[in-house]
Amino acid sequence: MAGFVDEIEPLKAAALAELQAAADVSALEQARTLFLGSNGRFTALMKRLGSLPKEERPAAGKAVNAAKAALEAALEARRGDLEGRAAQPREALDFTMPGRRRALGRQHPLTQTTEDIVRSFRKLGFVVADGPEVEDDYHCFDALNTPPDHPARDTQDTFYLGVPARSLLRTHTSSVQIRVMEKQPPPVRILVPGRVYRRDNADATHNPTFHQVEGLYVDRDVTVGDLKGTVEFVFRELMGSETQIRFRPHYFSYTEPSFEIDFSSPLTRRMGKQWLEIAGCGLVHPQVFENVGYDPEVWTGWAFGFGIERIAMIRYGISDIRLFYENDTRFLRQF
Ligand code: DAH
Repeated sequence: MAGFVDEIEPLKAAALAELQAAADVSALEQARTLFLGSNGRFTALMKRLGSLPKEERPAAGKAVNAAKAALEAALEARRGDLEGRAAQPREALDFTMPGRRRALGRQHPLTQTTEDIVRSFRKLGFVVADGPEVEDDYHCFDALNTPPDHPARDTQDTFYLGVPARSLLRTHTSSVQIRVMEKQPPPVRILVPGRVYRRDNADATHNPTFHQVEGLYVDRDVTVGDLKGTVEFVFRELMGSETQIRFRPHYFSYTEPSFEIDFSSPLTRRMGKQWLEIAGCGLVHPQVFENVGYDPEVWTGWAFGFGIERIAMIRYGISDIRLFYENDTRFLRQF
């Protein structure tokens, strides 16, 4: 009997310590199971009561029942504490306090520039058109008169996807010229802002993805004069009324003749340059019209394309293209 009774107090003390240490209701439940559950340590002690000699049982039973009652009382008290604590409100609310102001977002500088470009062209009757960023080599190159051995098709420059067959990430928005002309008969007056991809390493002036705007105008008797007048109008709207433009002869496979457009303004002089190259353009090549089923004897047209990042960098005096993609709010807040 002495052995049995001697075990009661240490076990009770251990159980009490465990109950007291439980930090929440579920820890308390674990502690209860450990001692008072059907396989619990205290329950095991009680089960041994039956194997004691008959004359020892009453006293031992009394002692063990008293300990069990004490443990159950401690368990309930602790449960009350824990549940009471959980139910208490964390802190009083002062409903008269002014609310926290939400920071207002604003448009990304590239979005602002794109919208300004679109707004100017809308004044001239252009509508926005769209095409897929995952293109095929036909729409990105062949239909634009760019043959398979042309350097623009080099795997160094183009992200080829391979699946589906002949697919790639478009390297310019010029592919949308083809998509639109395939779908609708002339005349055409479209503007295509969109994302393009090239296998460039990112540095201050390059990024593997950037944005372009493409323009296409198809009608009867369209001239380089129309092209020049349009470009001048839009660039004066975008870059200020003092802006001058000039055309330099160039080569693109989908236009003939082709030009590069330079412009000059207080903005270029701020960058230490009299003239800055800004866009490519030209009169649509007759072969391109053939490829989409337009009769080149009847229809004439011009097209141009330029980079939106480049326009935004010049407008806002930004020296590193990567700033556009980092989403650092200290940068974005300024626009
Ligand atoms: N696609 C050319 C580029 O990515 C830009 C361009 C040049 C577009 C001449 C045109 C064009 O429509 O006629 O550099």
